Amino acid sequence: MNVHDSEKVENLLLHHGYLAARDADEADLLIVNTCSIRDKAEQRLYSDLGLLRAWKTALPGRVLGVGGCVAQQEGDRLLRRFPQVDFVFGTHNLRLVPALARAAGEGERAAHTEERRSLERFELPVPHPELARKNPGRAYLTVMEGCDMFCSFCIVPRTRGREISRPAEAILREAETLARGGVRELVLLGQTVNAYGRQDARRASAKAHGTLPFAQLVRQLAETPGISRIRYTSPHPVFFDDDLVAAHAFVPELCPHIHLPVQSGSDAVLGAMRRRYARADYLRLVDGLRNARPDLALTSDLIVGFPGETDRDFEDTLSLVREAGFVDSYSFKYSPRPGTPAGALELTEGVPEAVKQSRLEALQDLQRGLTLAAHRARVGTRTEILVEGESRRGAQPAGRDPYHRVVNLTTSSPSAFPAGSLVPVQIVEATPHSLLAEPLAPLPD
Ligand code: 5AD
Ligand code: SF4
Repeated sequence: MNVHDSEKVENLLLHHGYLAARDADEADLLIVNTCSIRDKAEQRLYSDLGLLRAWKTALPGRVLGVGGCVAQQEGDRLLRRFPQVDFVFGTHNLRLVPALARAAGEGERAAHTEERRSLERFELPVPHPELARKNPGRAYLTVMEGCDMFCSFCIVPRTRGREISRPAEAILREAETLARGGVRELVLLGQTVNAYGRQDARRASAKAHGTLPFAQLVRQLAETPGISRIRYTSPHPVFFDDDLVAAHAFVPELCPHIHLPVQSGSDAVLGAMRRRYARADYLRLVDGLRNARPDLALTSDLIVGFPGETDRDFEDTLSLVREAGFVDSYSFKYSPRPGTPAGALELTEGVPEAVKQSRLEALQDLQRGLTLAAHRARVGTRTEILVEGESRRGAQPAGRDPYHRVVNLTTSSPSAFPAGSLVPVQIVEATPHSLLAEPLAPLPD
């Protein structure tokens, strides 16, 4: 979501005549887009702002802006605390950036973090020809924003505001524009993406707001000429209906990968987290999805050291990871966030840092083993990759397969596989973080 917000700001600025600088030294305007999901991310802003004091004063007229979740959370406190900051914009105020930047150039300092519940925030210009998407074959497409779930550990409902879904018409139109620009893969975005339209589920309201049930939206997007792949991120387990599960069986464009955050395998912890499902519900959903799409790859998010988490609870998380068979997962040590109910428990029921650390390591050890085993099981199979660019070590083309795994290509003619092309391949080798594959004929045109 943040990466896409940065693209949206970049695109707005291009439409207002700004040009991309090669680096900070060359830039007159620098914007920091921030994350506050864990304390470490928030602290990172404060240390960056320390470094940027020198950048700001090195040349007269330089403008420094701060956006994103920390901006939303802190508002004009950032202006007071950091004189080097010229403007602050919240997560619903991206459209104000060109005006704020211009005013800042004339010496005006301002913070705008008001929540706009209106749909205006989604009305953004089409991609500017100069917009340099990191991966030309894939694009993010916002379908909803905000979150009304209020999990007890999470700051997102406070920084991203209330759930709001964009009219289907506008989403379908944007998909067509993207496809015409060479995009093959759409990544539908939302904090709880499959809650799309649920506020409007009553018929009259759906009509008024122009939304559709999420599974229908996916089916309609799959009809967009030129679109070969659709993903959505991140869904919440409670918003899967039969139709969405069935779409995984019947919509070939829908990729066989879901990032499905579970957070914990313990019912006691899930309850305290206010996740609104139990371990068995989650595993039942996984079964249903695998019935629809037997080759489905699942990845997840997990938190260790939530206040009150016992060794037994943690064992339940380890066993859930094994049972669900995650191909990969992101795991985090619980970090107390301001204004959240769980944050207040950290003092009395907090898990000691050393225990959090050892649980994190045990979980990541388990995951490494599962990931490597899943990669090894793929050797010899065929798949297709969407080329993103060059591999980390350079030289080879690299991309992702439908399962969202990173695949590097062995080839002596890398220029035959430009970014954005779809290439049929055979997997020849598994490594802990990626797969190695040989291109199969025919070569892409
Ligand atoms: N502490 C640790 N991890 C968190 N996440 C969200 N809030 C916290 C927190 N307070 C994790 C969750 C979520 C992911 C994006 O970040 O696992 O799915
Ligand atoms: Fe945070 Fe996701 Fe829970 Fe919303 S559903 S509160 S974004 S963890």
